[in-house]
Amino acid sequence: MNVKILMIGDVVRSPGVGYLAKGGRLRETVKKTGARLTVVNGENAADGNGITPDAADALFFAGADVVTGGNHTLLRAEIFGALDDDRRLLRPANLPGDTPGMGYGIFDAGGVFVLVANLLGQIFMDPVNSPFDTLSRILERERGNFDIAVVDFHAEATSEKGAFARYFDGKVSVVAGTHTHVATADCAVLPGGTGFITDLGMTGSRAGILGVRTDCVIKKLVNRLPSRFEGAVGNEAASGALFEIDPASGRCVSAQSIIF
Ligand SMILES: [Fe+2]
Repeated sequence: MNVKILMIGDVVRSPGVGYLAKGGRLRETVKKTGARLTVVNGENAADGNGITPDAADALFFAGADVVTGGNHTLLRAEIFGALDDDRRLLRPANLPGDTPGMGYGIFDAGGVFVLVANLLGQIFMDPVNSPFDTLSRILERERGNFDIAVVDFHAEATSEKGAFARYFDGKVSVVAGTHTHVATADCAVLPGGTGFITDLGMTGSRAGILGVRTDCVIKKLVNRLPSRFEGAVGNEAASGALFEIDPASGRCVSAQSIIF
């Protein structure tokens, strides 16, 4: 029996978290789609950026099975303990140095063991270890311990995301891009059987710019003045993609964007 995996793009601040939780909206979507594992990018789920233990708990309570991260995961020191203690909470696997937490985990999705990995891109981002080498090493190390692998690739450049997905085409079941907060219209299955979308998009307020209040961004860009970024509120939506995978072969058989 095929397994469906729901992946949700960057949840921005309390409007994004609240939107998923309100009225059991995310759990309702999980039920409706038949997803057996729900992976949510939560690197900016806390107000003021980053992620806090409260924000992570709120995402798990809303229905996330795994919460992935990105370049802002380690912004708030209060999350370090949770990263060490809670296997469901991931930070990027290719951060340099000795950092708290894990960059991947293996999760039981109704008898199918799913390796979920989180990696950062290198283009227009702070320096990190090669995501290509890091993921290759993880897949090699865990060979035989999982049925399928899905990846949240948190990166800025569309070219890097496309290259990463094609490099691992046929080696992992899903590569879902995150970070840009803008959903792309290219959700598809690559020739080798990997489901791919360049960016899942954002879960949060559409009233501002990428989840930030419009006036704060304009002030910074027009006048080059320091501007404290406040979160936008209103017109919320959730954005992601649903991937259906044959666990026997690891091939993704369908991939579709989802907005709710
Ligand atoms: Fe990011």
